[in-house]
Amino acid sequence: MLEKYIDELYEKNDLDDEKLLYILENIDDKSREYLVDKSHKTRMKTYGNKVFMRGLIEFTNYCKKNCEYCGIQNKNRKADRYRLTYEQIMECAEIGDRLGYKTYVLQGGEDPYFNDERMIEIIKGIKKRFPNNAITLSLGERSYDSYKKMFDAGADRYLLRHETASKELYEWLHPGEVFGDRIKCLYNLKEIGYQFGAGFMVGLPCQTNEDLVKDLRFVKEIEPHMCGIGPFIPQKETSLGEYSSGTLEDTITMLALVRLLLPNVLLPATTALGSIDKVGREKGIKAGGNVVMPNLSPTNVREKYALYDGKICTGDEAAECRKCIERRINNAGFEIAVTRGDNVKWSQENPHVPQYDDKIVDINGILGF
Ligand code: 5AD
Ligand code: FES
Repeated sequence: MLEKYIDELYEKNDLDDEKLLYILENIDDKSREYLVDKSHKTRMKTYGNKVFMRGLIEFTNYCKKNCEYCGIQNKNRKADRYRLTYEQIMECAEIGDRLGYKTYVLQGGEDPYFNDERMIEIIKGIKKRFPNNAITLSLGERSYDSYKKMFDAGADRYLLRHETASKELYEWLHPGEVFGDRIKCLYNLKEIGYQFGAGFMVGLPCQTNEDLVKDLRFVKEIEPHMCGIGPFIPQKETSLGEYSSGTLEDTITMLALVRLLLPNVLLPATTALGSIDKVGREKGIKAGGNVVMPNLSPTNVREKYALYDGKICTGDEAAECRKCIERRINNAGFEIAVTRGDNVKWSQENPHVPQYDDKIVDINGILGF
């Protein structure tokens, strides 16, 4: 029955909620292999064996929110707060470009210091210096007007995970927040014209398979260009510090299901997945993942962006991560793409945007090997 449902999903890129739930309830190692194989075949049709790289710049860990799972929540007095300056951000962008990144992800907590004016200055500064590189923002919930201004200033993409599509679970994890507001933000981003990313955590405390089916249904419905999926990992200073992490197996299952539901989606093999398993990112890529986001932040702030415990890459220079990620991707049987790495469907709709799949940067030269 299970393989029959997986076949149906592979053929139609959709499946009834009851059947999705049946898969989640009954999947075992053998049927997961079958699922991963179908997901891999689907990605080969849409993106081939290419994996896109994004240079992640974690530019502020100040945050006004209090997400229960997150280590940089406002009420965590132990968090050592930092903000990168305009010059430091530009320096990261410079290094990233030299390492062959054609997309920057500017990620931060919800930090009121980075108001529209400051964000626009940063976006314009990067775009002026690197007009061919894409900018992805990941700054949480802001007004329609703010999203629009940053888009008009040159931002290309926006990541805003919905975190969980269960209203009840969402509102338990985000005291004082309204689930509908989060969802509205995603529809706003879509309407403005960003390539936008939703996403969720797997293995959250009290999360059920029914909740995960809601995540699958939600992403199928809103059809994001990107979807960030990672395991929940406890952070000791938070109220959820004693819960256990989401598992590698469940995260792989969800990645593969999302690839089958949304064949064109950009699907990162996340740092969180790499943090719960030494080869978690490689397994994520094999299960349909086609994006990696190595860190470009200055080494002295890496440890401070501690969303969860045991995060990888906190001691490594940008160039080391760059080299490491390429080696890992190649060992898994895939190839890096030195391109902007836009969503394929978006690219077809925007043929004027060049992808620059021309040269592989010789990082050995840069690193002095
Ligand atoms: N475990 C796993 N992922 C987390 N995030 C935040 N805290 C945790 C945690 N404890 C994820 C959220 C957020 C993204 C930037 O990091 O999904 O959207
Ligand atoms: Fe950062 Fe491997 S990707 S050290």
